[in-house]
Amino acid sequence: MSGMFIVVEGIDGAGKSTLCQNLRSFFESEGLPVVCTEEPTHDEIGMFIRRGEAGPVSPTAESLLFAADRAVHTEKIREWTSSGKVVICDRYYASTLAYQAVPLGGPAPDRDWLEAVNGPIVTEPDITFLLDADPQESMLRVGRRGGRSKFEDEEYLGKVRENYLRIAHERGFIVLDGNSPPSEVTSEAKRAIERKKVV
Ligand code: TMP
Repeated sequence: MSGMFIVVEGIDGAGKSTLCQNLRSFFESEGLPVVCTEEPTHDEIGMFIRRGEAGPVSPTAESLLFAADRAVHTEKIREWTSSGKVVICDRYYASTLAYQAVPLGGPAPDRDWLEAVNGPIVTEPDITFLLDADPQESMLRVGRRGGRSKFEDEEYLGKVRENYLRIAHERGFIVLDGNSPPSEVTSEAKRAIERKKVV
């Protein structure tokens, strides 16, 4: 039996982790085996990124690091789905298309290049949710949780959000209102999953 691959995207503080956890509970209550995973991963390359071990690199170099992590991760995702698991992934290739396309500490790489680098290494998710949230509200949530990353800046995230909305439109992502209560967001996501008849 083949499983399914669900991705949750959104700016920092949009509520992705909560949605991932709620979807996990939903699938488990249906008796389905679930793997929750995320990018950057907690494997060697993902931890190299998380610890900032490459130093202050340009968005272009950063894109390649994220892509290397993704290439290894995608092999695992394929194994999980082909053994019948539901894979719920917090961030995937759209994070690179949305974040690294905004200049930060260096010029941003071209969008076509970002797509060309990611295209051959990814597997297309069955569903991608974009949790669309107001950057000001998201930054408040990020502030409450502490330990800001360099990406957690309201103006920067405003541009990332615009990229996300454009990508979502082009690629048929399901856009959810991240400013709504988490229970409503989860119910809407479940309805979308049922509409796609993946459960
Ligand atoms: P997290 O906060 O969801 O764990 O993600 C860590 C940061 O990495 C977040 O601010 C977004 C950023 N990021 C990118 O800029 N590009 C990517 O491709 C990925 C996967 C994450």
